[in-house]
Amino acid sequence: MKTPILVTGGTGTLGQFVVARLRAKGAEVRVLTRHPKPAADGVTYVAGDLETGAGATAAVEGVHTVVHCAGSQKGDDVKARHLMNAAAKAGVRHVVYISVVGADRTPVTSGVDRAMFGYVAAKRAAEEIVASSGVPYTTVRATQFHELAFQAVAAMAKLPVVFAPGGTKMQPVAADEVAERLVELALGEPQGLVADIGGPRIYPFADLARSYLRATGRRRPILAVPAPGGAARAFRAGANLTPEHAVGHVTWEEFLTQRLAV
Ligand SMILES: NC(=O)c1ccc[n+]([C@@H]2O[C@H](COP(=O)([O-])OP(=O)(O)OC[C@H]3O[C@@H](n4cnc5c(N)ncnc54)[C@H](OP(=O)(O)O)[C@@H]3O)[C@@H](O)[C@H]2O)c1
Repeated sequence: MKTPILVTGGTGTLGQFVVARLRAKGAEVRVLTRHPKPAADGVTYVAGDLETGAGATAAVEGVHTVVHCAGSQKGDDVKARHLMNAAAKAGVRHVVYISVVGADRTPVTSGVDRAMFGYVAAKRAAEEIVASSGVPYTTVRATQFHELAFQAVAAMAKLPVVFAPGGTKMQPVAADEVAERLVELALGEPQGLVADIGGPRIYPFADLARSYLRATGRRRPILAVPAPGGAARAFRAGANLTPEHAVGHVTWEEFLTQRLAV
């Protein structure tokens, strides 16, 4: 029997693509999830909650490689701590971690910053937890996924006025292209922090909203309001962008067309 690769968050947007791509490469896959289901198509599911650490030890048992995709708006540092403690004890040989572009250059210092960008600070803390765990690792930072940008503009478009973060640009990338890179990294040797992965084009946030409204035949005024605080200022200065690593191929326009066709 082959040693399974553990994918935390294997039920999520990114993780599902990672699982499918690992399966296509012939890997056995184990998924850690809070909602386990019966094994199917070479994928087994183990119950676990990385917020509490429950199930982490069982999830990493007999595993050499982990792709850590589990994440949420809050507490990714805590999740990383629980996973890495279990991985270190189990002698895991490689953890691949997905972080976010700008994690290292977004100052989250004030209460306003923490309220709006606590997610980014937790990703940075998680990066450090992974790096200092003693487990060989590879960390890659990605820009926002098209899928997330789509969710955001779709939610905003429900209001009569669309409030866009003024001055902020986005470089969205297809989650599946990030998954492709994660799988390549997982099947290779640990490399520490590797080059960012970003989408092919950079757009003012308001333009993403505008193209969504146009594509869905809606008319809404867009009000660009700059968010307060140092972290938002860093984003306006481009901390969340990686123009030198615009390696994704799928553009926002292509994603939008595809997504709205289903
Ligand atoms: N979305 C973006 O634009 C973006 C950009 C750069 C990096 N990232 C990073 O990429 C990763 C995946 O993002 P995504 O957009 O694919 O997320 P997602 O669709 O929201 O999926 C989140 C996944 O995390 C799992 N999860 C959440 N809380 C958990 C917990 N307490 N214990 C165990 N599993 C938990 C969920 O599994 P269950 O519900 O099955 O338990 C789910 O599979 C995250 O680390 C995120 O920070 C995302």
